[in-house]
Amino acid sequence: MSKKILVTGGTGYIGSHTTVELLKSGYQVVAIDNLSNSKIEVLDGIKKIVGTAPEFHNVDLADKLATALFFDKQPNFDAIIHFAAYKAVGESVANPLMYYENNLSSLVNVLTAMAKHKIKNIVFSSSCTVYGQPDTLPVTELSPLKKADSPYGNTKQIAEDIIADSVRAFDIKAIALRYFNPIGAHASAQIGELPNGTPNNLVPFITQTAIGIRQELSVFGKDYNTEDGTAIRDYIHVCDLADAHIAAVNRLTENKTKHNFEIFNIGTGKGNSVLDIIKTFEQVNHLKLNYKIVDRRAGDIEKVWADTTFANQELGWTSNRTLEESLKSAWDWEKHLDT
Ligand code: UFG
Repeated sequence: MSKKILVTGGTGYIGSHTTVELLKSGYQVVAIDNLSNSKIEVLDGIKKIVGTAPEFHNVDLADKLATALFFDKQPNFDAIIHFAAYKAVGESVANPLMYYENNLSSLVNVLTAMAKHKIKNIVFSSSCTVYGQPDTLPVTELSPLKKADSPYGNTKQIAEDIIADSVRAFDIKAIALRYFNPIGAHASAQIGELPNGTPNNLVPFITQTAIGIRQELSVFGKDYNTEDGTAIRDYIHVCDLADAHIAAVNRLTENKTKHNFEIFNIGTGKGNSVLDIIKTFEQVNHLKLNYKIVDRRAGDIEKVWADTTFANQELGWTSNRTLEESLKSAWDWEKHLDT
């Protein structure tokens, strides 16, 4: 019998790519989502890639009763991958309670169901945002956490604490994956990122500028202490990120964890500046991007990239895809959306 995995936020950006890889790896997948930031048509894209779509349920995990009912009907999962959450930093500053309520109550409701139904394993979507601006780079899992810059970032820190307390109290094992900057799309261009309104993130803003939806990209700051003056991030292909979830689920379900709560950095280990991203995007896709330099964006850190040694050695996972592949796939996806 193939193992059964629940993917919350299964029609979202990372959730959909992970669902594809789970199905391809022979897992049975049940996806749930409240479609607040994704579209049901994503399931068609998954079906085109894999030949089959996951079982889908529209469930709002912040709704305690609805979540309890869902798990009462369907309690047998080998693991849960919990993606479902709000993720816009600026929106979280404007509307903090919405973030605390949604992101934390959904996690509490999922963990409550796990304890009740003896579901043993959870993979949690965390973020490198928990490190803030690290004192030393690359940043390891043992680097101290900094006070969060936004309510969104704080929900990730608090969520990790909630999980740590839960694995102590219940028979639950957890892996938190701290994502760096996910970009790109599936090579088939059947699924990808679907930003809601004006994109906040760099790569969707770039692709929308290239296709003509946006007039011009603003580069936020050229006076950072970096080689070209623009800020540096660790950009990771979303399919590599999806693969990391397969590795985490395998580790949990095959009882290979060394601690009941493990944390891994999921990045490439390489930092690229905003101008690097623009230049590479132009080169691989043979086009010119309209951009201008503007002031720094409030709340941005200067530079961060991952030390991935622990993930490479312990999780047995490494990122494989290049920045060029990531930026080509992002552009292919944007063109697919335009057709
Ligand atoms: N940037 C621009 N112009 C834009 C958008 C972004 O110059 O239009 C720059 C930003 O200033 C930053 C870089 O591109 O230097 C990356 O910005 P993103 O918004 O794509 O990503 P962030 O690193 O700011 O945020 C990401 C995730 C968050 C997470 C954070 C952790 O989107 O969810 O990493 O550091 F909290």
